Amino acid sequence: MPKLNGSPPLSRPLESAPADGPEDSPAFTPALGRLGSTAAYDAVIALFTRERRWRAALVALAAPSPGDVLVDLGCGTGTLAVQLKQTCPAAEVLGVDPDPAMLAIARRKSAREGVDVTWHEAMGDRLPAVVGAGRATTVVSSLVFHHCTTPVKRALFAAAFAALRPGGTLVVADYGLQRTRLMRGLFLVIQAVDGRATTVPNGRGVLPGLMRDAGFVDVAERDVVPTATGSVSLYVACRPEGPPVAEASVPGSGDSRDAL
Ligand SMILES: C[S@@+](CC[C@H](N)C(=O)[O-])C[C@H]1O[C@@H](n2cnc3c(N)ncnc32)[C@H](O)[C@@H]1O
Repeated sequence: MPKLNGSPPLSRPLESAPADGPEDSPAFTPALGRLGSTAAYDAVIALFTRERRWRAALVALAAPSPGDVLVDLGCGTGTLAVQLKQTCPAAEVLGVDPDPAMLAIARRKSAREGVDVTWHEAMGDRLPAVVGAGRATTVVSSLVFHHCTTPVKRALFAAAFAALRPGGTLVVADYGLQRTRLMRGLFLVIQAVDGRATTVPNGRGVLPGLMRDAGFVDVAERDVVPTATGSVSLYVACRPEGPPVAEASVPGSGDSRDAL
């Protein structure tokens, strides 16, 4: 396995989308799942997900301002990270993704657009190590969690929490609770392409609960965008001010670490 700047061995793509089997594989699902072709990714997303509608909503919710540090978790071909930087050139924007083929497209895209985004090749659970624990004002992520098994979803929310500074914001766009028969039917396409193990929990609406489990507060679904492949939900959540619960002192107790 190649190494990058002395970091641990990089992740590898699954040869195909995960079967409904073991949930702890360190490999990542390629962006188009069983369809495979990275080169076609941007065209497919534009055609089947009403990308412009939900990306604009995501950028509005992230509301980048000068001095912000925004991290795109699972940035893929970099469309969102580039859009965030174009919206606020005085913000710092970082994109993190394990797939070198997707990152190669992202690098070309930012160079073509003349925007300065820092790209990192890494699995999302390494976010705090890669971007700095407690450094991000905002973590954004789009269309990543439906590619991840439930343990990996948990690991990514924990990593986003750790990368955020207290008071920081998480904004996620992904297939969420499929509320109507039509949306559930259309979402079957994504389940066929990306595998049921990772997609079915999304469609049942697990993401907000997993965010709360990771310590996020004020978790809210702020928008739902019906698309030709199921509905995409936009979620906002906050890392609370102050230390994480595990480190907070418990009234009436001595050392909080002993108490918890
Ligand atoms: C469908 S693509 C979405 C890309 C981009 N966020 C977008 O909105 O177009 C899913 C991305 O998640 C990445 N990914 C999969 N597993 C990941 C993990 N465990 N940590 C970080 N990224 C992951 C893939 O490499 C891929 O680029």
